[in-house]
Amino acid sequence: MKSIYFAGGCFWGVQHFFSLVQGVSKAVCGYANGNTGRPSYEQVYTDTTGFAETVKVTYRPEQISLEELCSLFFSIIDPLSVNRQGHDEGTRYRTGIFWADEADAPVVRKACAQLSEKLGQPLAVEQEPLRNFYEAEERHQDYLDKNPEGYCHLSLKTFRYLKIWQHIRLFLADEPDTIARMANCSAILAQMMPQFLWTGFYRVAGQQLVLGPFAGPEACMRIGYGKGVCGSAWKQGRTIIVPDVEQFPGHIACSSRSRSEIVVPVRKADGSISGVLDIDSESLDAFDSTDALWLEKIAALMEIC
Ligand code: SME
Repeated sequence: MKSIYFAGGCFWGVQHFFSLVQGVSKAVCGYANGNTGRPSYEQVYTDTTGFAETVKVTYRPEQISLEELCSLFFSIIDPLSVNRQGHDEGTRYRTGIFWADEADAPVVRKACAQLSEKLGQPLAVEQEPLRNFYEAEERHQDYLDKNPEGYCHLSLKTFRYLKIWQHIRLFLADEPDTIARMANCSAILAQMMPQFLWTGFYRVAGQQLVLGPFAGPEACMRIGYGKGVCGSAWKQGRTIIVPDVEQFPGHIACSSRSRSEIVVPVRKADGSISGVLDIDSESLDAFDSTDALWLEKIAALMEIC
């Protein structure tokens, strides 16, 4: 067993998130790297103690690596935001990764450097040894289990997507065939997100996208390069969110019930696009940056790299 300490804004959601991660045996809310002895929540709340709301994550390294934990942590924070996550503001909500084992320092620093390079900006995430950590009061432990309606900067959708992503990853682990992977990925997404109208893949075949495995009503079978939302995501090489399909020039209406849509490129190991993941909803404005982030992680599971 090993432990790493993540400060990611309000600890209620961060604790709940890591408690759902496979390979994590325990996630505990606390206060880290402050300037006093054991503080109370109220003292930390004054923002004068130097403590950051932090979650101690204890994990089995044979099941999940520190790199993977850092990558999951980055998916739930704004790593550029200084002393602010969601609506919560103050030094107690700063982000940081604190290690108790000096051997973890290069791993954390490398993960942060890679993210910084990808974003093209320095991160606001502190990378420091753990100086102190005090467990938070009992009422702050498992807060979102005790208070399902409790405010948190992480949405319920984030927790749901984490479960889906883990389920798909585990389920597909030993299957090398891309079509079989896409077929079960569509089925799992459709089952776990029943609000989706259509969930499926189109695959690149020459200058067209050809319908692949999907769940939902029948759909058009071929889409040209640059055509519709799918062909545009392929051409532009990026995720496209369409809040209202009627406002998207050239949208291809496979179903008149579809009101909004998200399309995410699927890439091969060399970065070239081999297809797209397309999801439609009967509601307007059904997709946001949380969907984009997690569906990109899911799409990354499709091609064996
Ligand atoms: N609306 C898509 C076509 C595919 S269906 O939504 C399943 C598009 O405009 O590319």
